[in-house]
Amino acid sequence: MMLRGKKILLIISGGIAAYKALDLLRQLKKQGAQVRCILTRGGSQFITPMSVASLSEREVHMDLWSLKDETEMGHIRLSREADLILVAPASANLIAQMAYGLAEDLASTTLLASNRPVMIAPAMNPMMWENAATRENIETLEKRGIQMIGPSSGEMACGETGQGRMSEPENIVKAVIHHFQADKPLAGKTALVTSGPTHEPIDPVRFIGNRSSGKQGHAIARALADAGSAVTLISGPVNIPDPEGVETIQVQTAQEMLEACQNALPADIAICAAAVADWRVENAARHKIKKGKDLAPPALTLIQNPDILREIASHPTKRPALVIGFAAETENLEQNARAKLQKKGCDWIIANNVGMEDIFGAQENHVYLITHKNIQEWPKASKENIARDLGLEITNYFLNNEFETRKTG
Ligand code: PMT
Repeated sequence: MMLRGKKILLIISGGIAAYKALDLLRQLKKQGAQVRCILTRGGSQFITPMSVASLSEREVHMDLWSLKDETEMGHIRLSREADLILVAPASANLIAQMAYGLAEDLASTTLLASNRPVMIAPAMNPMMWENAATRENIETLEKRGIQMIGPSSGEMACGETGQGRMSEPENIVKAVIHHFQADKPLAGKTALVTSGPTHEPIDPVRFIGNRSSGKQGHAIARALADAGSAVTLISGPVNIPDPEGVETIQVQTAQEMLEACQNALPADIAICAAAVADWRVENAARHKIKKGKDLAPPALTLIQNPDILREIASHPTKRPALVIGFAAETENLEQNARAKLQKKGCDWIIANNVGMEDIFGAQENHVYLITHKNIQEWPKASKENIARDLGLEITNYFLNNEFETRKTG
């Protein structure tokens, strides 16, 4: 699952190679990518919108002037939400439109409006590929940083032989994976992050919760994704947007969070930043509890919730190589955090003093990174900076471990 959580916009333009785009779509999804598709009018002469929709499990975008598409998604959002735009097959016509900055249909307009990286897999007759016009257009696109995949040589559907065949889907997928791994120190690693509070129901309208905003956990998920890791973020109810490039699963209760974490294993890294409720109401009422002059306030019986961090750290077969917990303390920070490190069986603990300073919901955090060997105090900083520095520590951990393994093995 080397593309887990990656959002890819696949543009399928006209050409017989469009039939291979269906296999490409299937293989991208198999690697965990979330794929949206634009099918050009030319493309739809070769494959049907129905097959693209069935394989992508989403609606297919075809028309720049569709009122429904523009109100629900819009070409600007289509062009900005993807981590990568992949044009396969890229016809000579679409390549020319891109080179000249034309906005003639949904595909060319989306490409023109985009600020995302673009890769193209050209496919055309060899004479068209060799034509001076196409050569110049390709040079223009390459100068603009658009990455080419292929084309390869061989016998064409039209019976001619030469360069112009679209690269095979597996080679395109490899190029896409390589694109996401370049300069990404955690590329190839998978991470699971918990964030936010949990809400434990008392009745259908009331719950036990806490003041976690999800800012710290979400920032960590984003930092790991920026470093190249495939990240699954399991978040309790928060009011902040899902981080880009991260597969986010929303849950309400501790039990749901545990289940989602178990489903997200195996992973190389687990970071539990969520403020999970330690207790839940034993028998949450099915109907709203009534209050009244003659009614005594309800007595709530609390029972222990599962300890998600401990469950992950003690998993018999799928324990991540690096398990990191948080400790929210109001007193004896180091001592209590060290006790949690032992009790929960994790490798590192990030301790924050939530009593002395405003940490829940704030923009900044002040943390201590505690391992079994040492403790580092980090200066107070934005939650994004803390997340980025934690990403660097994690990268170093894997670099050192992999270096040691190479030395001994
Ligand atoms: O969300 P923000 O507003 O940005 O605030 C960030 C934060 C303060 C919530 C965060 O920095 C933090 O400290 N998170 C952990 C909060 C907490 O519940 O700490 P704890 O000491 O009670 O729990 C210790 C560890 O066990 C934590 O990693 C927690 O996720 C985990 N745990 C706790 C209970 C439980 N039932 N299951 C768990 O996995």
